Amino acid sequence: MNYLARYWYVLVGIIVGAYISTKLRLYVAVLLGDAVNTAVGGGKESLLLNFALMIIGVTAVSAVFQFVVSYGGQWIAQRVAYDLRRDLFSSVESKSFRFHESVSSGDLTSRSTMDVEAVRRVLGIGLPQLLTTSFLLVLAVYTLYTINMKFVLIFLATVPVLLTLTVILAVKQEPLWDKIRLKYGAMTSWLQQNILGYRVVRAYNAEERQTQVFRSLTQDYLENYVEVSRIRSIISPLLSLVVSLATASLLVYGGFGYTAGGITIGSLESAIYVYTLILSPIRFYGQLVVLFENAMAGMRRLIEVMYAQDESNENTQGIDADNIKGEVVFEDVWLSQRGKQILRGVSLRVAPEEVVGIVGESGSGKSSLVQLVPRFYDPDRGRVLIDGVDVKSYNTKSLRRRIGYVSQDIVLFSGTIYDNIALGAFDPKPEEVREAARIARLDEFIESLPEGYSTMVGERGITLSGGQRQRVAIARAILSKPKILILDDPTSNLDAETEMAIKDALRLRFKGCTVLLVTHRLSMLNLTSRVVVLKEGKIVEDGDVRTLMQSNGEFSRLFGAKQRVAG
Ligand SMILES: Nc1ncnc2c1ncn2[C@@H]1O[C@H](COP(=O)(O)OP(=O)(O)OP(=O)(O)O)[C@@H](O)[C@H]1O
Ligand SMILES: [Mg+2]
Repeated sequence: MNYLARYWYVLVGIIVGAYISTKLRLYVAVLLGDAVNTAVGGGKESLLLNFALMIIGVTAVSAVFQFVVSYGGQWIAQRVAYDLRRDLFSSVESKSFRFHESVSSGDLTSRSTMDVEAVRRVLGIGLPQLLTTSFLLVLAVYTLYTINMKFVLIFLATVPVLLTLTVILAVKQEPLWDKIRLKYGAMTSWLQQNILGYRVVRAYNAEERQTQVFRSLTQDYLENYVEVSRIRSIISPLLSLVVSLATASLLVYGGFGYTAGGITIGSLESAIYVYTLILSPIRFYGQLVVLFENAMAGMRRLIEVMYAQDESNENTQGIDADNIKGEVVFEDVWLSQRGKQILRGVSLRVAPEEVVGIVGESGSGKSSLVQLVPRFYDPDRGRVLIDGVDVKSYNTKSLRRRIGYVSQDIVLFSGTIYDNIALGAFDPKPEEVREAARIARLDEFIESLPEGYSTMVGERGITLSGGQRQRVAIARAILSKPKILILDDPTSNLDAETEMAIKDALRLRFKGCTVLLVTHRLSMLNLTSRVVVLKEGKIVEDGDVRTLMQSNGEFSRLFGAKQRVAG
């Protein structure tokens, strides 16, 4: 609740404002009664105008304070929502890779939208309402007490019943709302997947099937909503009934009291006015409770993400990696993911500036192995050393600055193609970005675009081919001037252009780099001085291409007979 404490002064303003405005609204009731008693009943009609002006004046002042309350509530709500969104985003950005694999992106999205929204609503709407309603209830009892003790009794006999009723009914609805929210999430996530995957859907003529699923999802949603509406439709008249019961008993009691003497018309008028003031906010009291409950649940879910037990492995102190020479050693490395053993005791030494190829069939653990170097994961057993120092001992940010990583699946962010390449370095010069694009053999393509480097790519931008995307990733890596370069299947898209780009880049830019080159292509292995073969998480062969080719092992099985080109 630090988020609220930050804005305590506004909170105090809201509370004070709510108190004053309620107090004034109830004062109108007293004025009304006095007006009826002294002016109308007492035959002093001349005072009527005075009373009228006073009522208008008091109401106006109360309105000003009401404005303060409602504006203050919205102000605080927006600020807190902003703070929450910002903190959530930065915490998500710093979470470990394992964390990201364990949550669905849809869930994270719904947390940062729906849950923040719930908190915002409760602060903007719920808090001011709760304050005014609470003050109203307490002060109403007091006002009624000053008018006539009997009115307090009627109040105490009816209002708690009303309160309980609205709360019970609201709480009854709540599980349904939960379901509705869940269904809503399922609906949107299905929608999202189908919008992103429209190509696959069309290709397999799956429109009917997908629509069918969506129809049943919306059907559920509809049914739950109808159910809620049914409950609501029962509640509303029921509440009206209790309200009119309360007013009726007031009227009857007041009427008899008047004829019997002891109650004036004016005090009856005041009491009825007080009643009308409180009855409508009370009807929403139950919803208020639910609003608060939702916000608390939302807040809990947000905190769950922000403070998730996440063994984020990043080292913020540690040794600076700026001047590493680039020797990479895997020392009996074991790795498992979700109970599945992926690497089983890999030992490998890569000398500084050596170019080592890593091959193996799909699923043998190549990507997993190279991702240990920038510490996307840490091994369960064994160590990864750079220049003889455990990677855990380096400052992780500085370590990653020295490592270029071209991943297997390349993501472009929505933005210009320029920005996407510039991502590779912190604030690079335009010439550097262009130079990197040139070496990655992107320049010709980019210049052919109508808007050149300013062309939008990624979502809502133009679509790049697989090879072009890989070259963007290579350009990023060139820009980052790494000491250790990881290329994970950079030519999986089988185009000559990308292969040439890699060869140029290695010759021109990555000279002096230690290179780990994962590939399925024999032609790429000509760039390497040595190749290791992975099989089921173990290194089964190690040597130069020619020797491996001649030995009758895993390597020749992979590349021999058919000279496989496909990945
Ligand atoms: N984060 C993860 N969670 C669970 N399993 C994983 C994870 N990452 C990899 N795996 C599993 O580990 C095994 C090795 O995966 P890896 O991506 O390292 O293979 P690869 O050799 O790179 O394959 P490919 O040539 O297809 O890229 C696979 O069976 C894969 O399903
Ligand atoms: Mg892989």
